[in-house]
Amino acid sequence: MKQDDSRKDENVLFVGIDLGTSRSSISASNDTRQWIESYVGWPKDFIAMQVVGKPVLFGAEALANRLSLDLCRPLEHGVIKEGISRNEEAVRDIIRHLLDLVNPQAGQKIHAVVGVPADTLKVNKLAIRRAVAESVDSLMVVTEPFAVAYGLNLLNNSLVIDIGAGTTDFCIMHGTIPTEDDQKTILNAGDSIDDQLFSSLVEKYPNARFNRNMVRQFKEQYSFVKDVAEEVRVEIPVDGKPVPHDIKNEIKRACESIMPALTETTIEMIARFDPEFQVKIKNNIVLAGGGSLIRGIREYLQEALKEYGPCRVTGVEDPLFSGSDGALKLAKDMPVKYWEPL
Ligand SMILES: Nc1ncnc2c1ncn2[C@@H]1O[C@H](COP(=O)(O)OP(=O)(O)OP(=O)(O)O)[C@@H](O)[C@H]1O
Ligand SMILES: [Mg+2]
Repeated sequence: MKQDDSRKDENVLFVGIDLGTSRSSISASNDTRQWIESYVGWPKDFIAMQVVGKPVLFGAEALANRLSLDLCRPLEHGVIKEGISRNEEAVRDIIRHLLDLVNPQAGQKIHAVVGVPADTLKVNKLAIRRAVAESVDSLMVVTEPFAVAYGLNLLNNSLVIDIGAGTTDFCIMHGTIPTEDDQKTILNAGDSIDDQLFSSLVEKYPNARFNRNMVRQFKEQYSFVKDVAEEVRVEIPVDGKPVPHDIKNEIKRACESIMPALTETTIEMIARFDPEFQVKIKNNIVLAGGGSLIRGIREYLQEALKEYGPCRVTGVEDPLFSGSDGALKLAKDMPVKYWEPL
């Protein structure tokens, strides 16, 4: 591959891809940005094929047709599930689809930086590389929180906490490319909030009919920690008739259920550093990912960390694209020697 020429080559499309458990997004150097839910579905049989009319469906469309499809969410729990080659195929299809969505010109070379959950990178780097390699000419795979940190120019003395669906990823930036030691992943994240909310609602309202997808939507609409002034009531069918249900306490408890582990891990990661750096990092904690949209979460964490000295927690402006925008910036800036030859 002629990487030395490619920097000057007009005909390169740089892309940043955030490959997430629940949502995947792409930002491209032709100023296009797109996202899909990370679902892939293939028709179950030839009848299904006639019903859906195409060999592979993605995102919301795949979910809507799920009864006709073998449906796959390949990065559940942040790892391409072992031994199921369809997951690798699904990642490949998602990447190809995301690239189609940003309309590369015919013959244009694609240089991609792909951000994945930190654990996926550790366990499945080769599988990810294989899945992406077919569609791009140059590749670098990084962790999601590093991509976010790079995009926000948080290169020194900061801690990025990416609260996603399958995992919450922590990444300390201290002026170099982060190593494994600078990163940590825990499973307390969006999906675990959904699990908790689902089971407490089943217990409280045994006659109400709802599914996990509805529960996730309730959470996304009303999520909060600590307190909010308003009531939280949602309509759920009972005996086929929509009935308002009070779910405020359940939402609060489910959202707060991830906070002890989040606080503990934050403290643990910061404590490894020299005290002088600890102070700086504590004043530069940034929340990213869909979970950062939980109302009150910044204040909650700031308060929980107060006993360890002053700290400042902020949130990214655009959780949906901060990973892919950061990956794109990295793709544009990166010196040639860091690209992995394919
Ligand atoms: N307003 C909201 N309040 C609470 N949670 C939300 C909100 N909006 C989205 N989420 C949750 O954020 C999660 C998705 O976030 P994100 O897109 O960052 O995850 P991901 O990158 O797909 O997952 P991961 O980083 O684990 O691979 C989902 O669990 C979703 O329900
Ligand atoms: Mg993510």
